Amino acid sequence: MRKIIQGGTIITAGDTIKADVLIEDGIITAIGNLAGDIRKDDEVIDATGLLVMPGGVDPHTHLEMPFGGTVSSDDFFTGHRAAAFGGTTTHIDFALQAKGESLVDGINTWKSRAEDKAAIDYGFHIAVTDPTDETIAEIPSIAEEGVTSLKVFLAYKNVFQVDDTAFLRILEKAGGAGMLTMVHAENGDAIAMATDRLLAEGKTEMKYHNVAHTAIIEAEATSRAVDFVEITGSPLYVVHVASGQGLQAIRRGRRKGLPVMAETCSQYLTLTDKDIETGGFEGAKYICSPPPKTSWDQSIVLECLGDGTIQTLATDHCPFWFDGTKDGRTPGKELGKDSWAKVPNGVPGIEDRYVVLWHLGVNSGLITPERFVALTSANAAKIFGMYPKKGTISVGADADIVIFDPEKKHTISADTHHMNVDYNVYEGMEVTGWPVRVLSRGRTLVDNGEWKGEAGYGEFVPRTGGAVL
Ligand code: URP
Ligand code: ZN
Ligand code: ZN
Repeated sequence: MRKIIQGGTIITAGDTIKADVLIEDGIITAIGNLAGDIRKDDEVIDATGLLVMPGGVDPHTHLEMPFGGTVSSDDFFTGHRAAAFGGTTTHIDFALQAKGESLVDGINTWKSRAEDKAAIDYGFHIAVTDPTDETIAEIPSIAEEGVTSLKVFLAYKNVFQVDDTAFLRILEKAGGAGMLTMVHAENGDAIAMATDRLLAEGKTEMKYHNVAHTAIIEAEATSRAVDFVEITGSPLYVVHVASGQGLQAIRRGRRKGLPVMAETCSQYLTLTDKDIETGGFEGAKYICSPPPKTSWDQSIVLECLGDGTIQTLATDHCPFWFDGTKDGRTPGKELGKDSWAKVPNGVPGIEDRYVVLWHLGVNSGLITPERFVALTSANAAKIFGMYPKKGTISVGADADIVIFDPEKKHTISADTHHMNVDYNVYEGMEVTGWPVRVLSRGRTLVDNGEWKGEAGYGEFVPRTGGAVL
């Protein structure tokens, strides 16, 4: 059946227009004043007074990821359902290469996890954790799997961390194949050294996570990564940038004209180091890497969202139960009751990104609605080779659409969220602006707080190429 979204204000990364949208077979087929074209069998969705924006594209998530001695608590169904409630209709998750495995094995493992559960569309990056000669030679061929971006970790020593030689080789190989390298930029050797020292001194309280992950730990690795871009000429995307100094390194690279891009995450817009440092074990809720930094760092992150230094807002959604001892739960943050060093790293947020940025960014006048769309969907779709299928409202695009009420108020809470986790890092935050209806390829997934989607509907999105923004 055809659908017409009538009377709304369409916002894309490029412009804002008052127009109707016609959807046929999941695709947008016309935009304009369509009042005269309505047929008797059409479903007309009244969007009078509402905004019509592209569904969110979250380029950084970790669903059912084995990590930190457990597994993240949202699977590809619960995570997708939560994402849809919050206005995100596509995400790119990190598949991990296991030691001794090929990259394609890692991708296939993640594809089989997602397939039957997926309720929104998804893609994968592959994280290279075993950078042997064979692995590096394999890089160009994973594009055939629809995966055109790779991640390296400069942190998590003895787990995921790669050394500088491997990082350089991967950058060079990926860039030569037209693929994008992503980097977790923290100095894992320095973190390991600080961790050993702190634990030897009996410093096990949550606040010491911040002492092991100071801003210079992030800034050094970011700066080195930017220099590696200059050495190799290959493009780089720095994930989850949290520090002002890290962003200064990105600015330096971009001012030189280097192909370096940056992502930050919604938690860095609201949390600071104080959230980990106060409240005893409660601080474990906010432990992630890199951790949120000072309010000065936060002000630079916000500034860089507005001035173009940062291209995307992601979530790095990697949820762990605060109390994972209850029936049916996977172990969670309580694994680190005795020491910050054993707390699984990660925070939930796949559901909250869209509304948090609207509230903090658009309502405050920091960014325009068009910039909001760029940061939450269009830029990720462009960088990761999904545009214009995803990330815009234009003829020929998938009808992934959020109908958004800019006046509707909502108080974020774990009592009402849909993520499979027992706390919310934005607990009690009152936001103005709410997705009242969310469509994926023309199908309604959420309507006025009611779930209409289903497991198995979501499709893998094979990606080709991508842009340097
Ligand atoms: O603490 C975090 N960020 N956990 C998820 C894994 C990663 O580093 O992205
Ligand atoms: Zn990371
Ligand atoms: Zn991550």
